Amino acid sequence: MFKLLSEYTSLEKLSLFLLTIFVLKFTSALIRLIYYNAIAPFLNTHIDFRSTGKWAVVTGSTDGIGKAYAEQLAKMGMAIVLISRTESKLEHTAKYIRNTYGVETKIIIADFTEEGSALYSRITKELDGMDIGVLINNAGQCYPHPEYFLNFTRDDPVLDNIVKCNILSVINMCRIVMPGMVKKRRGVIVNIGSASAPCPCPLLTVYGSSKKFVEKFSEDLGTEYKRFGIIIQCVMPGYVVTKMSKIEKPSWIAPTPEKYVQSALTTTGVEALTTGYFPHTLLINLILFMKSISPSGTSKVMMIGMQKYRNKGLKKKL
Ligand SMILES: NC(=O)c1ccc[n+]([C@@H]2O[C@H](COP(=O)([O-])OP(=O)(O)OC[C@H]3O[C@@H](n4cnc5c(N)ncnc54)[C@H](OP(=O)(O)O)[C@@H]3O)[C@@H](O)[C@H]2O)c1
Repeated sequence: MFKLLSEYTSLEKLSLFLLTIFVLKFTSALIRLIYYNAIAPFLNTHIDFRSTGKWAVVTGSTDGIGKAYAEQLAKMGMAIVLISRTESKLEHTAKYIRNTYGVETKIIIADFTEEGSALYSRITKELDGMDIGVLINNAGQCYPHPEYFLNFTRDDPVLDNIVKCNILSVINMCRIVMPGMVKKRRGVIVNIGSASAPCPCPLLTVYGSSKKFVEKFSEDLGTEYKRFGIIIQCVMPGYVVTKMSKIEKPSWIAPTPEKYVQSALTTTGVEALTTGYFPHTLLINLILFMKSISPSGTSKVMMIGMQKYRNKGLKKKL
């Protein structure tokens, strides 16, 4: 019934090889799904965030994924420093967190697209002397809609703002918070990347590249500072229902920020690099598998998809 390997044609051998890779990847993803969703919550394996320090600092904490992180950490008993641009949203979220979870809050108004180092000097002063155990580098900006690189003129701030908000803020917030963590040899940093980093993402080229930076930065910084007891994780979400994604209805592939962050938090301290959410892991692996078979074909398919999003975005602008 079974043939010897030598009896297969080259094409059959290649197909068998690819099928084996797919089955192994799928099985490992399935085992992780069962572990993180059905076993880990009962074993309580994720980090005791509270033991890292009194305060958690969350950037971009008044909406979406950042707000969900702030809430979940407050629920665990951490005091929260909320950082973002809009004072009214900061005050509203801080009040909600204080009243709901009974923890202390502090707000810092900051726009990470600001020029110069004055912003970070001010944040350093505001955080001086605080026992910070957790930093969630979440604030990020994206294109208003997928667009060709050269369609952004030099005067258009979109691309520069992405670099300042998605890259420079991550570097500078780590510089501010990490010395305290090194001193007490404890701390957790979660940098929010994106599935657009490992996957082809044409028409969001600068955004995807900025998130690739976040991935590499987290990985290497994590290796450098592991011996100081600091855990550094890069979480790379696929679509989540937020203002940035413009997705309004939750589905199995695009969860609410609350559901997404609940899942992502169970991976902190376990996985250094993760999508944080099993359906996103499946999707990324499928795209990467397609890419390993046909890099140009996969890029073409992604380009067609992004062009559709671009057309939709342009129509909405009219
Ligand atoms: N949603 C997704 O599908 C998705 C997928 C992959 C990765 N991500 C990443 O997840 C992170 C959060 O995204 P989200 O979807 O939750 O976004 P969101 O719902 O639009 O929330 C963004 C938050 O960041 C703050 N913010 C925006 N620009 C800022 C700036 N220049 N300086 C300081 N704060 C700023 C906003 O508050 P103010 O407006 O008051 O400043 C808000 O609190 C981002 O890094 C994003 O790249 C999201």
